Amino acid sequence: MTRRKLAAGNWKMNGTTADLSEIDALASAQPDPTAEVLICPPATLLAAMSAATQGTAIATGGQDCHAQGSGAHTGDISAAMLKDAGASYVILGHSERRADHGETDADVRAKATAAIGAGLGAIVCVGETLAQREAETTLDVIGTQLAGSIPDGVTGDTVVIAYEPVWAIGTGLTPTLAQIGEVHDFIRAELTKRFGDTGGAIRLLYGGSVKPANAAEIFATSNVDGALVGGASLKAAEFSAIIDAANAA
Ligand code: 13P
Repeated sequence: MTRRKLAAGNWKMNGTTADLSEIDALASAQPDPTAEVLICPPATLLAAMSAATQGTAIATGGQDCHAQGSGAHTGDISAAMLKDAGASYVILGHSERRADHGETDADVRAKATAAIGAGLGAIVCVGETLAQREAETTLDVIGTQLAGSIPDGVTGDTVVIAYEPVWAIGTGLTPTLAQIGEVHDFIRAELTKRFGDTGGAIRLLYGGSVKPANAAEIFATSNVDGALVGGASLKAAEFSAIIDAANAA
């Protein structure tokens, strides 16, 4: 099963219109990437970034969506609104949303169902805390998150899984390649158990302190189909170097 590498940037709560220049620079640096390239800016920039990336190889996505299509939910954004603003993906269940907004696996699953229904690819995040890794419950935690967060009936076209150890996010710390491979192999096995052959088509991203210096070795690790990149996606030169590693993988 060949799975096209996906280099996805999560800008989190960073960026204003001035930063759209980074997208122009990225498009110039990556006119025809082998890997799929995605940037998920804050919602305020989504429409402008989608317009700026028209005709380039860069796709755009949201960082969250509501499970309902519309209604009285002040401050929230529906999947259809993201799609209307040019998104093709949405990140769901990021550990920062699970921690800051109390999102549960059931919430993430409902959001993923809504996203897929609106025609977006759902990038569903899972990952253990440092305490869970030290207690050697990592695979149990990931298994529970997967079972609870991924809707039935997904395919390689509708869902992507991002493994992001909470303790590796924004810290400069990364698991060993063996630890990344162990979790990715486990996720692959769980998906295959649940979805059969389709489980082999779903892409698995690693996220947490991915940088130009470690991207190639991470992309060469078992069942790693790309990366979800935070800090290093904000600057075109740095993210382009990560995309280069994905193109070569
Ligand atoms: P960093 O790459 O900044 O560690 O962030 C990872 C992340 O949370 C991407 O979603």
